[in-house]
Amino acid sequence: MDAQPVRLLGAAFLAAAVRLAVQARAQPRQVNGVLGGSVVLSAALPPNATVREIEWSFSAGAGATIRTAELSRGRFERPDPGDRFRQRLEMFNATSLRISALEPGDGGLYGARVKLLPAVVHDQSFNLSVFEPLPDPEIQSWLLSETPARCNVSLQCRVPSGTRGTVAWMNPRRDQRGLWVRPISGGVLKVEVQRSYANATLTCRVRSAVEERRRSIDLLHVCWSRGEAIRLGCWTTVAAAILLGPSAWRLSP
Ligand SMILES: *[C@@H]1O[C@H](CO)[C@@H](O)[C@H](O)[C@H]1NC(C)=O
Ligand SMILES: *[C@@H]1O[C@H](CO)[C@@H](O)[C@H](O)[C@H]1NC(C)=O
Ligand SMILES: *[C@@H]1O[C@H](CO)[C@@H](O)[C@H](O)[C@H]1NC(C)=O
Ligand SMILES: *[C@@H]1O[C@H](CO)[C@@H](O)[C@H](O)[C@H]1NC(C)=O
Ligand SMILES: *[C@@H]1O[C@H](CO)[C@@H](O)[C@H](O)[C@H]1NC(C)=O
Repeated sequence: MDAQPVRLLGAAFLAAAVRLAVQARAQPRQVNGVLGGSVVLSAALPPNATVREIEWSFSAGAGATIRTAELSRGRFERPDPGDRFRQRLEMFNATSLRISALEPGDGGLYGARVKLLPAVVHDQSFNLSVFEPLPDPEIQSWLLSETPARCNVSLQCRVPSGTRGTVAWMNPRRDQRGLWVRPISGGVLKVEVQRSYANATLTCRVRSAVEERRRSIDLLHVCWSRGEAIRLGCWTTVAAAILLGPSAWRLSP
């Protein structure tokens, strides 16, 4: 007779605990990707958990939530292979989903419902933002004056207007004592260099939340090179793109 209310109480307590746990992880994890690139969404597991199934879903804005993929006993299934993702979803590993050839419309909330043996369910979510790729920065250089011993140049680093990134010159290496660098506004750098340090390289970078692109200029391309009075151009030796941070995000259980 008494056992029933106690069990009910226990069930209510359990339900509250589960709700609390769900609320605690309701905050989606931010994941950033670049148009045309790929991201890996990685579900977190408690230690030693055995996964029965992971269901992935997607919703953008006010639209309906669609089930995008299911991973069950090592088998990867797409409930609707004709959805917006088509061939762009794949199983990265047992707990991760990879989305490739990112499109602007891929931004939104992704859910992972992780079902563990024997009967535990973990809901996790990811907020994917898709960014425009950054352009390579451009460096223009002007030779201001030079003597056989020293050279003054002005360098400007630029990206096309409208680029959503910050442009900055990187500090030259510390050991370059024959090199004086003074930043002026607008991405302009005034540089004075001694002849013996003319092989110094200066690097400009443009950076967004996701990516960084760099371009470097070798001062020997500007100073003491065939004695031309003014050099105006894009003397660049290296352009490189770097992806910031891990593209796979792991949740702590
Ligand atoms: C996980 O399993 C290993 C061996 O299978 C065991 O040594 C370890 O204590 C377990 N960890 C937890 C948190 O249960
Ligand atoms: C899957 O890949 C992610 C990202 O590289 C990694 O953090 C995770 O440990 C991997 N999981 C398994 C089960 O291999
Ligand atoms: C997802 O990220 C976008 C951009 O950062 C933000 O505007 C939006 O509020 C986030 N959505 C949720 C549910 O956190
Ligand atoms: C370079 O500029 C500095 C300061 O503007 C000046 O003192 C120096 O004489 C210049 N050097 C040359 C080689 O023109
Ligand atoms: C520049 O040249 C000096 C001596 O010629 C050399 O010691 C130094 O390593 C060179 N630096 C770079 C960045 O090439």
